[in-house]
Amino acid sequence: MKKILVTGGTGYIGSHTAIELIKNGYEVLIIDDLSNSTIDVLDRIEKLSGKRPVFEQFKLRDSAKVDDFFEDYDIDAVIHFAAYKAVGESVQFPMKYYKNNLVSLANVLDAMKENNVSGIVFSSSCTVYGQPDVLPVTEDTPIKPAESPYGRTKQIGEEMLQDQTVADTNLKAIALRYFNPVGAHESGENGESPTGVPNNLMPFITQTAIGMRDELKVFGTDYNTVDGTAVRDYIHVVDLAKAHVKAVERLIESKSDKQYEVFNLGTGNGFSVKQVIDSFVKSTGVELNYSYAPRRDGDIEQTYASTTKANDVLGWKAEKTLDEMTSSAWKWEQYLLSLK
Ligand code: UFG
Repeated sequence: MKKILVTGGTGYIGSHTAIELIKNGYEVLIIDDLSNSTIDVLDRIEKLSGKRPVFEQFKLRDSAKVDDFFEDYDIDAVIHFAAYKAVGESVQFPMKYYKNNLVSLANVLDAMKENNVSGIVFSSSCTVYGQPDVLPVTEDTPIKPAESPYGRTKQIGEEMLQDQTVADTNLKAIALRYFNPVGAHESGENGESPTGVPNNLMPFITQTAIGMRDELKVFGTDYNTVDGTAVRDYIHVVDLAKAHVKAVERLIESKSDKQYEVFNLGTGNGFSVKQVIDSFVKSTGVELNYSYAPRRDGDIEQTYASTTKANDVLGWKAEKTLDEMTSSAWKWEQYLLSLK
């Protein structure tokens, strides 16, 4: 059984990916510092996949611990999720982001080389494109200067991978540029648990609907879009998780000669904030209290992916609808309430 190290494996996308990997016959080993997740995620992964991953809690900034881990386990490939991801916080504390996101990646790449581990999948983001001049966004769309230190860590992370593939001819790396991951496992028993007030749209919607927040503010009504609200390519987290299984397969089965590849992961459809709200209300039958507010600093007007490369080359296609995204997010929010 192939052993896959999933760093950040108790996080939102990491935990869904762990479930899909186990379902596809991989052994999952998780390293997470639990800085933005909790240990009970392991129970959820076990319940939903039938197997409990190996787990160690430490910071990947600790290179000695990373080296020990690689020596202890015979890893076949790595999926590197572990990173901080709050855009606003990264502007306030840039060094926190550079240290955590980039030193960790360097330590993982060093340990991989030392232990002859030759495949890595990296969590990147559509943030590397900024506001693209042409839509949909293909993988050849020019990278724009990052709008936050967080975004810059994703750009630099991709460059670190490329440099390492030049230095180490055995290494193969796949960077996956996520659009806007939302939704939850169909059981409603695994999803996103943001700490504090959520920055992102979907958890803010579900927390408002359940009464934790007074109202959702829709940031910006004068964008040049279908209804004036901003447009994003929302992708169901389980579809996203399945793309990681495809990427790992591609590395392990040497399906590509290329040492470094990039794929956009989205549905190819842009939806406005208003359309997401309408989908939530329609798919759940729950009313949502919202009002219109000025644009949020740093927001782009619209973005959505070209999915041609992911479909044709990676052999993956997002299958779930916007209604499935909003209704599963709601199921998960209710499940969280039932645990209180
Ligand atoms: N929005 C609201 N009200 C809210 C929250 C969000 O109207 O309370 C709007 C935003 O203004 C934006 C849209 O909903 O127009 C989506 O916002 P999110 O914060 O959910 O997502 P972003 O597209 O801003 O950010 C996401 C990731 C970032 C990443 C970025 C680009 O959260 O980590 O995509 O890749 F940097």
